[in-house]
Amino acid sequence: MTEFWIFTLYPELFDSYLGSGLLGRALEDGKLVVARHNFRDFGLGKHKKVDDTPYGGGAGMVLRPEPILEALEAAEAKAGQRSHRILVTPRAKAYTQADAHRLARMDRPVALVCGRFEGFDERVGSFMDEELSLGDFIMMGGEVAAMAVVESVARLLPQVIGNGESLVCESYESGLLEYGHYTKPLVFRGLEVPPVLAGGDHKKIESWRTADSRQTTRLKRPDLLNPGQGKGPESLEPLEKDHE
Ligand SMILES: C[S@@+](CC[C@H](N)C(=O)[O-])C[C@H]1O[C@@H](n2cnc3c(N)ncnc32)[C@H](O)[C@@H]1O
Repeated sequence: MTEFWIFTLYPELFDSYLGSGLLGRALEDGKLVVARHNFRDFGLGKHKKVDDTPYGGGAGMVLRPEPILEALEAAEAKAGQRSHRILVTPRAKAYTQADAHRLARMDRPVALVCGRFEGFDERVGSFMDEELSLGDFIMMGGEVAAMAVVESVARLLPQVIGNGESLVCESYESGLLEYGHYTKPLVFRGLEVPPVLAGGDHKKIESWRTADSRQTTRLKRPDLLNPGQGKGPESLEPLEKDHE
């Protein structure tokens, strides 16, 4: 059973997303568990403070380590097992489909720790198993990134997506982008569906799709054809753990 724990200051942000579509159904059917933990519950003092000013000065507030670690440890103590702890941060390698497959096979709960403000006290990273980024841009918080991870993993789980075959052909599964799809009408504003696709010869359709997939990858994402030149290593390596 794939289980996610999301550590966030805004657990309500996930309500409608987790309650809708195929993801909502997967949760209802028990194919996936997503628990939300508000680390403000472990904030300091009567105001449940989770952040403070940065040492050395500068703008913005930094998330203190204690509420995050205590929230994680409380969830782990309750579950009786150590989670796979992931820090969601733009200061990491970008998440890929290979990571989604790896997390889908995880045999313990996957904890996604979402930041806010200026981000985390640097020492929080020492207690994590890995860090991941959604891409080279800055959002206000880690919640959208956590949601992207949950959804990309959920659709790899058995029986979450109706047609399992569509998963195999998808972009990134074979290292290439997927071929172009067409539906009706046959001609739209002068643009025609490639005749081979409407012809019914499955061998020809197959080779058109293979060629289109290569051509599209060459045009839009040449870095995929030359891994190592541009976007960095293919999969995330777990960080060396300094602490348990
Ligand atoms: C405003 S950001 C902090 C950015 C940080 N000061 C920096 O420059 O690297 C606040 C939080 O949003 C989340 N976040 C923002 N952009 C992200 C991205 N591209 N990928 C993953 N998380 C992101 C992280 O959890 C981060 O701690």
